[in-house]
Amino acid sequence: MKKKKIACIGVGNLGRAWAAIFARAGHDVALYDNAAGAVDAALPAIESSLAAMAEAGLVDNVEAAMGRIRASATLADALQGVDHVQESVIEDVEVKHALFRTLDREAPPGAIIASSVSSIPPSEFMANLEGGGRCIVAHPVNPPHLIPVIEVMLGPSTSEETFEACCAFLRGIGQVPVRLNKEIFGYVLNRLQFALIHEALHLVDGGYISAEDIDNVVKYGLGRRWAFMGPFETNHLNATGGITEYYDKFQSAIGGIIAELHREPHPLNPELISRLAEEMESATPVAEVPARQEWRDRQLMALTRHFGDMRPRQE
Ligand SMILES: NC(=O)c1ccc[n+]([C@@H]2O[C@H](COP(=O)([O-])OP(=O)(O)OC[C@H]3O[C@@H](n4cnc5c(N)ncnc54)[C@H](O)[C@@H]3O)[C@@H](O)[C@H]2O)c1
Repeated sequence: MKKKKIACIGVGNLGRAWAAIFARAGHDVALYDNAAGAVDAALPAIESSLAAMAEAGLVDNVEAAMGRIRASATLADALQGVDHVQESVIEDVEVKHALFRTLDREAPPGAIIASSVSSIPPSEFMANLEGGGRCIVAHPVNPPHLIPVIEVMLGPSTSEETFEACCAFLRGIGQVPVRLNKEIFGYVLNRLQFALIHEALHLVDGGYISAEDIDNVVKYGLGRRWAFMGPFETNHLNATGGITEYYDKFQSAIGGIIAELHREPHPLNPELISRLAEEMESATPVAEVPARQEWRDRQLMALTRHFGDMRPRQE
């Protein structure tokens, strides 16, 4: 892939991870953030995540990757000559709305402007832009330098050309784009995640199982298969006649469970949250969360090494 120039706008948790992804893939990256000291704080954090990836064999040359990253004092400087803008500022519709107007005005013609937005529908901040055709949502999962999927959603006037070019670029840097055909609140990954968490809250609150054992069911059960195939492929392989036989054979059990799941939203009451916190903190006290996050990232790096460059089959 031709070397590209990228601007990362907003360099908090997500912007830093994007910078590591772009630089690791060989692209030049300019960092801009409107908070004083934010870019200075981001640089060592990016370096240490690249160093951790190098230790795990996932990055060849940390120094060379860092050499491709530069700090920009102004937005105009960051946008100079860029091919791709990755916006990762706070999740606030007014802030994103104002910023997209500026980005659309100031980014070079032809540059794609992608947002990391995680829940706000793009029509609320990408509407009525002169260059709306080049604006798109590219929503990553935390931490995106170790979890490849990117939910790509078209804005109100995003062109197919932008969609295709953005996905080709994301594939080229090692991510796995998926297409969201229609705007939907919360997007897909979080809707799936919270559908499962909603049921887990109900089960824990109702005394059916502990929070620890819910985690065990997912990590030693569902997650083992879901790490390399999705729920529908799981169904397809659960009967020798494939998914048709599966749904036919287990129709009454599946239908019965689904019927039970149609219930009112489970209240997120303080008693339930403190019960969950008590259980979670007995295993990982809050002071140990940063160390446990490092452990999580090491596990993800080991998984990344294990899977190598496993890609969707059609590619
Ligand atoms: N953290 C996650 O797990 C996660 C996952 C997926 C997507 N996202 C999305 O990514 C975006 C960023 O999230 P984050 O967790 O990195 O937030 P963060 O609070 O860590 O960082 C946001 C950064 O944006 C900067 N900023 C705010 N307004 C700005 C402006 N107008 N111009 C330039 N910089 C500005 C802030 O100074 C801050 O450094 C959000 O839209 C969020 O929903 C976050």
